[in-house]
Amino acid sequence: MTYCLTLIPGDGIGPEVSSAARRVLDATGLDFEWREVSAGLAALEAHDDPLPASTVEAVKSADATLKGPTTTPKGVGFRSINVAIRQQLCLYANFRPARSLPGIKTYFEDIDLIVIRENTEGLYSGLEHEVVPGVVESLRIITSLASERIARFAFQTAKRQNRRRVTCVHKANILKLSDGLFLDSCRKVAAEFPEIEFDDCIVDAAAMKLVMNPHFFDVLVMENLFGDILSDLTSGLVGGLGVTPSANVGEGIAVFEAVHGSAPDIAGQGIANPTALILSGALMLRYLGEKEAADQVEGAVRKVLAAGKTRTGDVGGRATTSEFTDALLEVVSG
Ligand code: NAI
Ligand code: MG
Repeated sequence: MTYCLTLIPGDGIGPEVSSAARRVLDATGLDFEWREVSAGLAALEAHDDPLPASTVEAVKSADATLKGPTTTPKGVGFRSINVAIRQQLCLYANFRPARSLPGIKTYFEDIDLIVIRENTEGLYSGLEHEVVPGVVESLRIITSLASERIARFAFQTAKRQNRRRVTCVHKANILKLSDGLFLDSCRKVAAEFPEIEFDDCIVDAAAMKLVMNPHFFDVLVMENLFGDILSDLTSGLVGGLGVTPSANVGEGIAVFEAVHGSAPDIAGQGIANPTALILSGALMLRYLGEKEAADQVEGAVRKVLAAGKTRTGDVGGRATTSEFTDALLEVVSG
């Protein structure tokens, strides 16, 4: 079977890490037909549009998409391409596992948790306006439809992976209406899954508990902004942005990307860690039902990191992106 995959190389370190990921995925021996399209700054330069309709179409029609990070200007300028892709294609669930890797020094060992982030609304709805000069307003939209949908995704994930507990992270003590609705939606869906424990935690307390006692948590579900922030925190628990994968999933459409951004500070130097995007590629293989190939890729990453000889600078080594990728290829094809 041939899988039709769309590849968005992205900006900054995007082309470096996405070509590494492509090489590793190709080495599994599966048959991929790659279609490369652009988004972000690269698309703005080539097509005068940071998110061309042909890119959205290519994501929609592919079996799955692998996406490198894209740059979003701060303040003025075009809106985030990630947020736009997620909203336009209704990729409502952002799945961000944080799992300890061998040979990477962190405060805790044996971390294995998942942040599930609502991907289409909250403060990222893009509804901002100036009320009067000096006063602006950003609307935080929470609907029962999107909240129940993400809660159901969290419980289904927990069930499929034999997880013990789902925790709803919120601020319903202060944001009584919006997070009250999010929490109620989670409670309602929890009743459909009596075999999985359910609890909730206020977001600030959750941040503290995550750094003091991360093993307490298992699957965490939350709205968009909280998920953005806490998933960077959980990536710090297992070695940082260079090693944390993610998936954006909708109905029959999925985009796999690293949690990290385009890292302009190290772009073009050939030293970026491609692990996060390679592990996102492994999540993509799992999504396609290719469990063995996914295990093969994840196993190779663990093996090379455990050996400790070849690592990129962000995780304490000196290897370049291509040296690390070559070490992985040796294991995957060997
Ligand atoms: P960033 O994640 O690009 O970088 C933060 C720090 O982590 C930097 O010091 C960077 O060098 C390091 N880092 C990130 N990925 C790395 C890797 N693979 N290997 C080694 N070191 C790595 O975050 P920042 O600087 O806040 O954002 C830069 C740009 O990326 C912005 O335009 C932002 O909007 C965009 N961005 C895009 C995302 C996406 O496309 N999914 C996600 C997050 C940010
Ligand atoms: Mg982020």
